[in-house]
Order: sequence, then structure tokens, then C-alpha cells
Amino acid sequence: MCGIVGCILDNEVAPTIIESIKKLEYRGYDSVGIATVTDKINVKKGSGKIKEVDDEIQLTEIDGNIGIAHVRWATHGNPTRENAHPHNSCDNKVSVVHNGIIENYKELKQELQLEGHVFKSETDTEVIPHLIEKYMKEGNNLLKSTQLTIKKLVGSYALAVISTEEPDKIIGARKESPLIVGVSDKGNFLASDVPAILNETRQVIYLEDNEIIQLEKDKVTIMDNNLNPIEKEITTIDWNPEMAEKGGYPHFMLKEINEEPQVIRDTLSESPKIKEIVSKFKNFNRICFVACGTSYHASLIGEYLIETQLHIPTEVILASEFEYFQNTLDNHTLVIFITQSGETADTIQALKTAKKISETLAIVNVVGSTITREAHHVIYTRAGPEIGVAATKTYLSQLICIYLLVAHLKEDEELIQKLYSIPELAEESIKREEQIIEIAKKYKTAKDFFYIGRGFNYPTALEGALKLKEITYIHAEGYPAGELKHGPLALIEDGIPVVGILPPGSSYAKTFNNLQEIRARGAHMIILGADNDTQIDDVHDKLLFNPVVDELIAPLIYIIDLQLLSYHISVQKEIDPDKPKNLAKSVTVV
Ligand code: F6R
Repeated sequence: MCGIVGCILDNEVAPTIIESIKKLEYRGYDSVGIATVTDKINVKKGSGKIKEVDDEIQLTEIDGNIGIAHVRWATHGNPTRENAHPHNSCDNKVSVVHNGIIENYKELKQELQLEGHVFKSETDTEVIPHLIEKYMKEGNNLLKSTQLTIKKLVGSYALAVISTEEPDKIIGARKESPLIVGVSDKGNFLASDVPAILNETRQVIYLEDNEIIQLEKDKVTIMDNNLNPIEKEITTIDWNPEMAEKGGYPHFMLKEINEEPQVIRDTLSESPKIKEIVSKFKNFNRICFVACGTSYHASLIGEYLIETQLHIPTEVILASEFEYFQNTLDNHTLVIFITQSGETADTIQALKTAKKISETLAIVNVVGSTITREAHHVIYTRAGPEIGVAATKTYLSQLICIYLLVAHLKEDEELIQKLYSIPELAEESIKREEQIIEIAKKYKTAKDFFYIGRGFNYPTALEGALKLKEITYIHAEGYPAGELKHGPLALIEDGIPVVGILPPGSSYAKTFNNLQEIRARGAHMIILGADNDTQIDDVHDKLLFNPVVDELIAPLIYIIDLQLLSYHISVQKEIDPDKPKNLAKSVTVV
């Protein structure tokens, strides 16, 4: 996820563009850059947040009435200045900003290098200005060259392109990455998202996949991918800037939960890379996961999967407790570190110790973070920036990586195919929101909550309870379903809410009996199960799922409803779910 902006005005464009790109910083903050066109392409860029880069190199001090800008969420190549956008052609006549991923960039780069093009970055994006340069040298104009270029690209893109050869226009294009146009009397704009242009105009045109746009000061031309002009409707936006940054959602957490189906799709596209990494593993006979918090819960699901599907002894260690277990590591242990931030101090410390003895793999969301530089192998979860403190979409993306890892280790095509059905099933969970709001209203004054699950779904109980504690401040406990009778059942009393996770599968019958035992003590049962399960008719509340969601894949779906439940209880209690008290997004102290 990155953010792009393009802008044409009568006057100096840089102050407006930099204000616009600041509004997209929620889409990435690894680097920022601007390019304008005068008699040449002028570029200023640097790694870090916009404020840091601006303090250092004064981004607004750059001439020109036409410009493009970018904030980066690194995917290919570390967050360095060289990899920051815009990227230029060899002759410096073309400059490009891009959001998306060019999947065939390695082949294209090789072809271009053979033709003599010199690359300055490690990014997938840089093939684009070089391709446009090549087609312009063959006699095509900027628009045609951009069209010929995107025909060569496999992957996703939202692009903005400028050139000294046609210094009065910006060419844009989109496929599977968002791009909008803003129109006004002062000038015209391109942007990844509405917040970027709200200070300038509320008149917006939403572009669709495979559309190409030519932006001039007084004219906007939108075309299909054969360059036939198409008529588009102008929409008037009535959001305020803060609403716009959250995509119209009241909180980042809700926005991020709604992004989960797409995040799952994006992370599934990492499957070939995960297969390649798996083929590089040395011989191992034991797996150890190390993580904290929500990432620890993802690891627990990994343990259940590996033990049941691969029969490899596996254990999960909390990073803060790692030093007490490190003595059994050897060179036949694969140690997997899971962390969304890649900066958790406990996890970094454990990795530094483990890598001296064992092969290490890190599953991380933030490209270029400390952990990615320390581990032997890295898998990126493709969740994009997560702003809400409570992990939601990053958790789902971690789970997808773990499932893919197990499927490739087992060479289990059937499981891989099953994973491709998850995005649609996740969409069904999000559609249950109204029903979840009603349940949230009912239980918002509860003092305690229990979450019960068995097998693969026990970690979901732990994660459901953690989400509730974090953002509602209600005391909550997650337990394996069979464990209550060994003590915690003493806490069950009339009216206490108990969330029972009851998907179809081999653990069903035992879990059902355990839930009956709890119910008999007066608990209010909120059951998550299959919608064809007639046995769960007679409970206080139920959330019903497609029966294809069996116990093996339920961790990927049921948690979405539990995230929504915590979110709505938090909102009902007038707590800001994005900023729970005492917590931080990145825990950099041990
Ligand atoms: C809970 C949450 C935390 C993190 C934990 C580890 O919603 O976000 O429990 O999971 O602090 O953080 P990472 O994954 O960045 O190592």
C-alpha cells in the first residue's frame, strides 16, 4: 500500500502537492518524494516520514506547475532513498510514481538491462519509466507509450507519469490499486484516495480498473485501455477531511477490519515466494515459534497446524520468556518469529540469540524493519499499514502466511485451493455487522467475558479475549473448552457472557458438551457455529457461518466476527478503539 498524487495548477504546485501527500501518510511512511516538470524533471525524495524528510531537504522548494508525489509502504526493496519514488528513466525525461506490485518486473528488468537501460533502485516500479522511455524513443507520445507499457505489466498499479517531452500533462492509469481524479477551476488532480484532494476540491471522478487518464490544466480525458474516450460521472463528496482519511469509517480499526478480505487476497499472492523459501530450508526436525501478544496467538495456530498436518514437534515461546527455553535450540530446529511491526524488542532479542544456533524465518508486515534484517529468511504479510493499535488485519495476514507455509511444506494442493475461498467467506463475516452491533449493545455492561474453543480454535478464543480486554477494558479470559472443569468453572455464574467457538469437525462433539456444562451454570451463551447446525438453536445469541468453514479454516474466519464484537462494545462504551489506554502499536522496550 502506497499513496500517489498528481497535480496541475497555474502556479507553483509543490506546496499543494506536499499538503496533499501528507493526507495519504496513513498509506505508508517509509519514504516520500516529489517530481515536477519544468525544462527538466526536478526530483526531491528521501526515506522516513514526510516531516523528517521535509525538515532535511525542504520538499516544497521545487519549481514547476505540474508535479507528482508518493508516500511509500515498501514491498520490493528496503525503505531507502534510492528506492523512494518518483523513479526516472535513463534519460531523465520521464518520471513515475506507482502504487501496487508489478509481478513480472524481474523479467522486464532483465529485458530492459539487455537493451542497455541502467537501473538505480531495487523496486519493481522502476521498469515503468524505462519502458515508457523506450516507447517514446520509438516515436510514440507520452499517452501511447504509457498505454504500451501497461500492456506489458502483470500485477496491480495506480500510476502517475510526467515527461519533459509533454510538460503540460500527467498520464495516469489504474488496475487493482485505487485512483481518483479531482476536478476544479484552479486545476486538476490525481490521487490514491479522496483525503488528498479535499482541501482543493470536492468534485471527484472514481476511476475503474483498466482506465487511463490524461490530465491537463483545463481538461480531463478518461479512456479505456484502447484509448477510446469514456464519459464518467463527477461525484460531489461531503466528507470532512478526518472522515476521509479513514475512508469514511469512524475509526481506523473498523476500516482495517473491512480491509481484511483484500489483505487476505494480497497475502495469498505471496504463495509462490513462500514455496521458494520453503525449498531453501535446511533439514529440520523441530519447529519453534517465538512471538508476543496477537502474533503469539497466530503462532499457536501454527503449532496446531504443524503438529496435526506435518507431525513435526512444535512449540510456541513467548518472546519475553525465550531466554528460559533457548538452551534446547540446535541446528535442526527451525525458529519462526512472527511480528507485525518487526520492531518488538523482546522478539528482536530472542532472534539475535536464536540465529547463532538455528535457522530462522521471520513473518513480518513492515518491510525493512529490524527483524527483517536479522533473520535468515523473511516472508512479508501483505497487510499494508495498520494504524489502529489493536492488531486485526495483520493477524489475518500472519495466519494466511502460516497456512501457506504449512501447505507448501506438506505439498497440499487441496489446502492451498481452500485458502483461495477465504476472501469471500471473510466478506460474509463483515456483512454480519448489524447483528454483531445488537449483541454488543446487550453485553456492553458485562464485567467479565469467557471465550471457549478447542484444538485449532482455542487460540481464536485467546485472541477474541485479548481484543476485548484491549479496547473495551472488560476482563476476559480465553480457555480450551475442556479445561474449565479443572477450575475456571467456579467463576461461571448467572448471566456471565461466554463465547463458544463451535465449528464443524472432529472437535465439535466434545466442545458442544463442554458448552452445555457451562450453560447449565447459568451463563449467557454466544455461539459461533455452522448455519446448518440444528443443535445450537437454543442459545442466547448466535453468529452463523457457512458450513464449509470447518475447524481447520475457522481460525481465518471466526475471528473477524470477534474483532467486530470487541470493536462495537468499545464504541458502545465510548472508548476510542484506535488508541486504547496504556498501549502502543510498536513495543520497543523489553
Ligand atoms: C494486540 C497487539 C499486540 C501485538 C504485540 C506484538 O492487538 O497488537 O499484542 O500483537 O505487541 O507486536 P508485533 O506483532 O508487532 O511483534
